[in-house]
Amino acid sequence: MANDTLTITDNRTGKTYEIPVENDTIRAMDLRQIRVNEDDFGLMSYDPAFGNTASCKSKVTFIDGGKGILRYRGYPIEQLADNSSFLEVAYLLLYGELPTKEQYKEWQNGVVHHTIIHENIKKFIDGFRYDAHPMGMLLGTVGALSTFYPEAKEIFDEQSRELQIHRLIAKMPTIAAFCYRHRVGLPYVYPDNDLTYVGNFLNMMFRMTELKYKPNPVIEKAIDILFMLHADHEQNCSTNAMRNVGSSHADPYSSTAAAIGALYGPLHGGANEAVLIMLNQIGSKDKIPAFIKSVKAGETRLMGFGHRVYKAYDPRARIIKNKAHEVFEETGRNPLLDIALELEKIALEDDYFIKRRLYPNVDFYSGLIYQSMGLHPSMFTVMFAIPRTAGWLAQWKEMLSDDELKIARPRQVYLGAGERDYVPLDDR
Ligand code: CMC
Repeated sequence: MANDTLTITDNRTGKTYEIPVENDTIRAMDLRQIRVNEDDFGLMSYDPAFGNTASCKSKVTFIDGGKGILRYRGYPIEQLADNSSFLEVAYLLLYGELPTKEQYKEWQNGVVHHTIIHENIKKFIDGFRYDAHPMGMLLGTVGALSTFYPEAKEIFDEQSRELQIHRLIAKMPTIAAFCYRHRVGLPYVYPDNDLTYVGNFLNMMFRMTELKYKPNPVIEKAIDILFMLHADHEQNCSTNAMRNVGSSHADPYSSTAAAIGALYGPLHGGANEAVLIMLNQIGSKDKIPAFIKSVKAGETRLMGFGHRVYKAYDPRARIIKNKAHEVFEETGRNPLLDIALELEKIALEDDYFIKRRLYPNVDFYSGLIYQSMGLHPSMFTVMFAIPRTAGWLAQWKEMLSDDELKIARPRQVYLGAGERDYVPLDDR
């Protein structure tokens, strides 16, 4: 018997099956042969939240949740955060290698070339209610881009695919900033392509009457690092949405809109906004014990804590926590930081959190930084969506070149009624 197999005995029939093990996984399809009789459909695995199911093979991002390790294409996140830039990291995720000087210049120019959006997009952003949530506006607007670029449907045409990738990376900050300006009732600011990717984003967000916007270098650098940290995170809820929708051969704008929808939820990217709301609700350090009690009683969750994959300190949270102090030296200390630090201290010493291996995640401190930079909490998840677009597209591109690509179509365990006859309305 080969070593790299799994032997399964079906106690219902007494039959034994030998199933290959490859990359520490078995293929769920190999279970189908396990049947009690000829009419049996065959055995399936049941895993409603993908808790223990690999949905793809990927070379983009590696996470060891037990050890708190995160690597993009093999490079540790700490090294990238210290030495790289978001645009370089986006290139790395999308093309598999760090760019040479020449490749980087070409990539940067290619992205800059697409930062402007069609004037009609501005008009329909205008159509959103004055208080529309920026994530809702972002979702709708990115989805609508597919109507401006119908050739995006040609997903197997490499040239078209590359064009849409450049457009999406370039236009996300513009759309995000326009949604923000709409929300606060300020005129839209057009891209300034002399600035860096992040510098230009700050220009579109915050420029008032000055002729030339000069980004604060500390804030520009901090956002660049935050963007790198958020750029990819393997098969999370929104990336799975991107792959899932993309598997039907939908265009990348529609798939990205679906991913934005998934990110919006408070259990995913929406957690950074939820953390700020939570810290404000707690209000002062003396209220923390009562809050922790309500978390332990299951009445609420400690937002920004816990992760499906990390069962150790999220490495991104560690980098952000350290960065926060540098930003606060520039912007003034966010008064909510004291509540956050105390909350973290108490939670990390508490049995409830220790037993469940709940540690701060990427969203615990990022909102505090964004708020101190003057961003409204409704923009926090948008700040997650901009860089994650690079990861979504890298995973989408990888999926399209996978020779096992098929439309995603999960199975279900049907527990409903058996066949029954229709009863006319008058007889019910
Ligand atoms: N506060 C209190 N209890 C928690 C928390 C929390 N934040 N997270 C998990 N638990 C408990 C949960 O109640 C459960 O306890 P029990 O075993 O007694 O029922 C146990 O820990 C396991 O939780 P789970 O819900 O089965 O874990 P999951 O892997 O399905 O959920 C999570 C992961 C991130 C959705 C969850 O930890 C959570 O809701 N955290 C708060 C929201 C948050 O910060 N989300 C951002 C995640 S990181 C950024 C991103 O990738 O989007």
